[in-house]
Amino acid sequence: PAARPLAGRRIVMTSGPTHEPIDPVRYIANRSSGRQGHAIAAALARLGAEVTLVSGPVTIPDPQGVKVIHVERAEEMRDAVLAALPADAAVMVAAVADWRVASQAGQKIKKQEGEGPAPLHLTENPDILKTVGHHPLRPRLVVGFAAETQDVEENGRAKLARKGADLIVANDVSPETGIMGGTRNRVKIISRDGIDDWPDLAKDEVAARLAALIAERLQGSGA
Ligand code: C5P
Repeated sequence: PAARPLAGRRIVMTSGPTHEPIDPVRYIANRSSGRQGHAIAAALARLGAEVTLVSGPVTIPDPQGVKVIHVERAEEMRDAVLAALPADAAVMVAAVADWRVASQAGQKIKKQEGEGPAPLHLTENPDILKTVGHHPLRPRLVVGFAAETQDVEENGRAKLARKGADLIVANDVSPETGIMGGTRNRVKIISRDGIDDWPDLAKDEVAARLAALIAERLQGSGA
């Protein structure tokens, strides 16, 4: 195989968490570090792909050789992903917040003596992977992640169908695994062909293997 099997291929990616503002100083977030997504973006770029990475707020540096678009909220992430289409593949790794605050307060919410806490009304965020998986400009290869704490395989399989994805990279993010925020990962690759159980690997190695798998999948499927 060529050293740069993804030369000329456009790939859109998401990575990191999203921050959903409550008021000008507070937000809802999650523990995603962006390490796995950013490593995949770098690995795809090393194979020659033209990668657009839409990243939520992370503390790690931008990956080399990748066009990075920094966003904060899920809606901004969705808009940036759709603006990057058409693409040959989409790899959605971000831990997108499922909910955002329905109406963000314009001023810092004040503690009211004797009144108890202010209620937070949540509304559903757009599902970016599902949107891309069912989009008229759907890339030929759509890859999603499934961070689960239970029934990893079953949930991953259900996700394939529901999200319109070709591959789901499923992992167990229970706190005792140390995966979320850590440097290692243990994943199962779920496709219509079945399940491939990968060993415990450094996130960089998971990224390299996944990039190779993506290159393989994109080969022989036309220009
Ligand atoms: O449904 P769940 O959040 O478990 O699905 C995870 C997959 O869907 C990941 O690939 C994630 O990036 C993507 N996702 C998304 N937009 C959302 C929620 C999840 O793109 N709002």
